[in-house]
Amino acid sequence: MTMEFVAADWQKHAFKWDEPYPCYETPEREIAIVDQALEALVQAGILPHTKYDGERFAAHRGAVRERFEIPWTAITPRMQRLLYAINAIVQPRVMVAVGIFCGNTFISNAGAAIGPGAVYQAERLVGLEIKPTEAARARRNVASVDASRSAEVLAEDGIPWLQAFAGTIDLLYLDADGTQGRGKSIYLDLLETGLHSLRTGSLVLAHNSVNCAGELADYLAAVRDPSRFHVSMNIVVDDQGLEVTRR
Ligand SMILES: C[S@@+](CC[C@H](N)C(=O)[O-])C[C@H]1O[C@@H](n2cnc3c(N)ncnc32)[C@H](O)[C@@H]1O
Repeated sequence: MTMEFVAADWQKHAFKWDEPYPCYETPEREIAIVDQALEALVQAGILPHTKYDGERFAAHRGAVRERFEIPWTAITPRMQRLLYAINAIVQPRVMVAVGIFCGNTFISNAGAAIGPGAVYQAERLVGLEIKPTEAARARRNVASVDASRSAEVLAEDGIPWLQAFAGTIDLLYLDADGTQGRGKSIYLDLLETGLHSLRTGSLVLAHNSVNCAGELADYLAAVRDPSRFHVSMNIVVDDQGLEVTRR
């Protein structure tokens, strides 16, 4: 049986090409839904607790809105808060994000460790983007909120990068859409290529677990297989979704 948290109004929270910051609900409602999702992750044994600093998150959101150049994004306000909160709670020493486009997905994760929303110090924060022009934009965007310049935004293919990586990844975020019609089916390759770096307890976050569930069928079957991963839960707060897996 698939473990899921489903917000009653998830379909209303839809990605809009022309609106990076849609306003669907009051801040109180957004906070309440994300708190419920975090509580479900605690109940599933994926997160240790639900507490994160709301004021730091607001500072992070404000800086990204003011300084990032975002042509479009599928990260809804609920998803932005959820990604930040998961990172703020788990505080991964090493966070790697694959397929970061203009950097908004990367900073939604890394913003818990750099910039005005920082609540801890990470060892390495790595964003991988295969398209050099997008990687350059992501690097400019991230630098605009990160005076420490400690995050690494690399114009690289995530597959060979993960293959060559010899360290431990505490949190791996997947958002790449492969070329030549592969789309999101590249997630399973990325996961298997990076598996050697995931320790027991590492988290893997996979964006688009709802709208791309078909393309992700093999990936979702793998992470939901209890003989391979400790636990996995589909978090449906919007029409995109996030599969949260603990190794
Ligand atoms: C659809 S975008 C993700 C957008 C993100 N969900 C957002 O809302 O900002 C996927 C990105 O993955 C990148 N990509 C595709 N294959 C990749 C790979 N093998 N390694 C790294 N990046 C890759 C693409 O160039 C593209 O910018």
